[in-house]
Amino acid sequence: MGNLNNTVSWITGATGSIGSAISTLLAKSGSNVVVTDVDFDRAKNLSIQLNDLGFGVLPLQLDVSDKKAVESVGKVIKEKFGRLDILVNGAGISPKGENGRVPVEDINVEEWLRVININLHGAFYCSQIAARLMKENNSGHIVNIASQAGRSYSAITGAHYAVSKAGLISLTRQMAGELGPSGIYVNAVAPGRIETPMIKDVPKEVNQQIVNNIPLRRLGTPEEVANTVEFLVTPQSSYLTGVVIDINGGRLMI
Ligand SMILES: NC(=O)c1ccc[n+]([C@@H]2O[C@H](COP(=O)([O-])OP(=O)(O)OC[C@H]3O[C@@H](n4cnc5c(N)ncnc54)[C@H](O)[C@@H]3O)[C@@H](O)[C@H]2O)c1
Repeated sequence: MGNLNNTVSWITGATGSIGSAISTLLAKSGSNVVVTDVDFDRAKNLSIQLNDLGFGVLPLQLDVSDKKAVESVGKVIKEKFGRLDILVNGAGISPKGENGRVPVEDINVEEWLRVININLHGAFYCSQIAARLMKENNSGHIVNIASQAGRSYSAITGAHYAVSKAGLISLTRQMAGELGPSGIYVNAVAPGRIETPMIKDVPKEVNQQIVNNIPLRRLGTPEEVANTVEFLVTPQSSYLTGVVIDINGGRLMI
């Protein structure tokens, strides 16, 4: 606790299962956390909970697919804190059909674009703003929440989701290469199946089948994802950039 004192963190999709675990852990570690989410009521509630515990948290409404709104959040962060040390791109959606994954031939173009706009373009917009702010101090950390679906074929998610996460991994590597000389680290985590409401989009038997194929024989937790993100934004990972850390209980070993 306390190793992120005097830092400013910005989490997108901050009120989701994984986002709120990350926001909570970074706040507990001493960071001033800006929690942004498309759902402002939930952002406010999360900030009230964390403020009650004595942590400095600022809630802001943000749809990451709205470039202008992303720029406004960057301005607020600059005015309020004067700096940005950590960005976690956590906002994401994974639309399913009634019976789980929508087959590639049935994904309509609007839905395809919606997923790419939020999961990939949103992270790109936020990272652009973050990179500009971080360059002012020649330091910073960007962590992208990718997915196992972006690493290999996924039997669960739609092609739009898998493509958005594969794109996010590529964006991670490109930004790591470009921003490394400015002291800015860019890494990704690729969670496998994590115990969150997102996994209830498919029948129980499907999740059980997945567990049977995981060497650790259980799903992961949001806190386990948060722990890895925290590792990536502290000096403990000081020679890691452009990496993708798989958090999947051994399900995918590459
Ligand atoms: N749950 C899993 O098994 C799993 C596995 C791999 C990766 N992930 C990724 O982890 C991240 C968090 O997932 P989660 O399971 O906590 O899901 P979640 O649905 O609980 O959280 C997603 C959050 O993103 C927010 N959001 C949605 N659209 C947005 C937008 N346009 N702008 C800003 N915020 C928006 C939602 O309001 C929500 O708070 C996502 O990027 C997801 O793709 C999840």
